[in-house]
Amino acid sequence: MDDKPVDKKIILEELEELHKLDYDYADGRILGSMCTEAHPFAKEVYCKFLDTNLGDPGLFRGTKTIEKKVIESIGKMLSLDNAYGNIVTGGTEANLMAIRAARNHARKYKGITDGEIIIPDSAHFSFKKAADMLNLKIVEAKLDDNYKIDVESVKRAISSKTVAIVAIAGTTELGLIDPIEEISKIAFENNIYFHVDAAFGGFSIPFLRESGYDLPVFDFSLEGVCSITVDPHKMGLAPIPAGGIIFRREEYLDVMAVDSPYLTVKTQSTIVGTRLGASSAATYAIMKYFGKEGYFKLIKRLMDDTMFFYENLKKLGYEIVCEPELNIVAFNHPDMDANVLAEKLENLGWKVSVAKCPVAIRVVLMNHIKRNHLEELLKDLKDIF
Ligand SMILES: Cc1ncc(COP(=O)(O)O)c(C=O)c1O
Repeated sequence: MDDKPVDKKIILEELEELHKLDYDYADGRILGSMCTEAHPFAKEVYCKFLDTNLGDPGLFRGTKTIEKKVIESIGKMLSLDNAYGNIVTGGTEANLMAIRAARNHARKYKGITDGEIIIPDSAHFSFKKAADMLNLKIVEAKLDDNYKIDVESVKRAISSKTVAIVAIAGTTELGLIDPIEEISKIAFENNIYFHVDAAFGGFSIPFLRESGYDLPVFDFSLEGVCSITVDPHKMGLAPIPAGGIIFRREEYLDVMAVDSPYLTVKTQSTIVGTRLGASSAATYAIMKYFGKEGYFKLIKRLMDDTMFFYENLKKLGYEIVCEPELNIVAFNHPDMDANVLAEKLENLGWKVSVAKCPVAIRVVLMNHIKRNHLEELLKDLKDIF
């Protein structure tokens, strides 16, 4: 730290200089991110609530009410009338809370002290963090030929130590939806906690399904589903950080509660103590402002662009990993390693990401990627071919 105060102008100049090193979503060059620029209205609301702390909700009763309202609203979007949960920092924290709830529930009601979680090979790495922190063993379920969780493999993986099964609605790498209805049935019959990670797909699948897209059911209408992660800061256009964890029953929050003596509430179930109320307020605002109609319009444009990109890649001769279910396209050059292709694209100014299972270039069509960016990208891919 400097000994003496520094002039604001000098500080801002230094920060702006460093900010220039960041990529800008608006350039349409960030192809692998699941985040995007937040909507201006959500940013405006976010700034108004910057000092609110949901870790001490007795002091911020209005903002706590907003969090309750937003959880209720996301719950309804996921076919649940009485939803419990929180707006947290992102999908990682939401998944951590779900697995903590499952572990504590199994410990309390089944006496399991050395638990296991069954996750698909395609699961986000946040589950590895959760297992590590919660001292759980990961049992990986295999994927089928379509890169979705293999139902038989899940059945085989169940043991007397299983505290949770996880499936994904919108996988990180390919945007695929696991056979959640079948897994829900298995979890329900075996009395095992079932968590659905819809961090990416949660803000698009409901609207696509309602408009007739042929996508599988993934939400609380399935009786086995105990919790769902759904992230406003991905497809919801809320500012970072905004993740969502929704529980079917309050008891899942209760089993995580610890005493919080010096605060205005007696117990706390969240992982984080001091918590930003701005994330809840901004999410509430953008959900109201968009409505189902606004979110459908957004995902419809992105799906149309996804199919445009997919068809044109095929025409150029690129090999597509799988037909897109959501707004992600993964592809390969027939004779070039994905990492080599990625490097060529990087040299042309594209920020690409390479999937690991299978190895492929992966493009996530978020709101900042417009048709003209795709046309430019296709032109570069044509030249490379
Ligand atoms: C399916 C899925 N779950 C969880 C996460 C983790 O979310 P976050 O980076 O917001 O913690 C991601 C991130 O991309 C994801 O795709």
